Amino acid sequence: MERIILIGFMGVGKSTLGKKIAKRLNVPFIDSDQEIEKSHNKTIGEIFAEFGESRFREMEREFLRSLDKTKPFVLATGGGMPCYGNTMAELNKIGQTFYLKRSSKEILHRLIHAKKKRPLIDGLSEDDLLVFIESKLEERREFYKKAFYTLEREEQNIDQFEKIIHLLQQPQKS
Ligand code: S3P
Repeated sequence: MERIILIGFMGVGKSTLGKKIAKRLNVPFIDSDQEIEKSHNKTIGEIFAEFGESRFREMEREFLRSLDKTKPFVLATGGGMPCYGNTMAELNKIGQTFYLKRSSKEILHRLIHAKKKRPLIDGLSEDDLLVFIESKLEERREFYKKAFYTLEREEQNIDQFEKIIHLLQQPQKS
């Protein structure tokens, strides 16, 4: 399993789990938001404010094109990245994709104090945030579902993940 790609809604913990997996597997960890911030020398907030969301989505595609897809890595994508154009199909070509699934209520709790650096939700009240999460999740679910694997809440920790990888690497019995 050379390249592992974690996808899922904002705040589900893609980067936190991704870093742990990369450490365990001894491969580089890549965070798409951080790479975009580095290459444009601006925060995601500044990019949205100055250029708008559609330019940011282009930047996400540019980032994907620029990625060396021959090397092993663990990639945590921005929450919206798989949901535009044919990005999800591309991600599935590059590596093993894992959707970190969480309910809208859980996402709300995780995001309520982490709105500032996320321009799509910055400034929303708790009620509006829940409405936003529910409708976006509904819209994005069809993309997320295309991941090779869906990880339920209890599977989203390093020990469970390692077991899953181990099982996936076993030769198939016929
Ligand atoms: C976004 C998710 C963010 C970041 C940007 C837009 C989205 O990444 O890419 O704010 O559209 O869901 P995280 O999922 O890491 O918060």
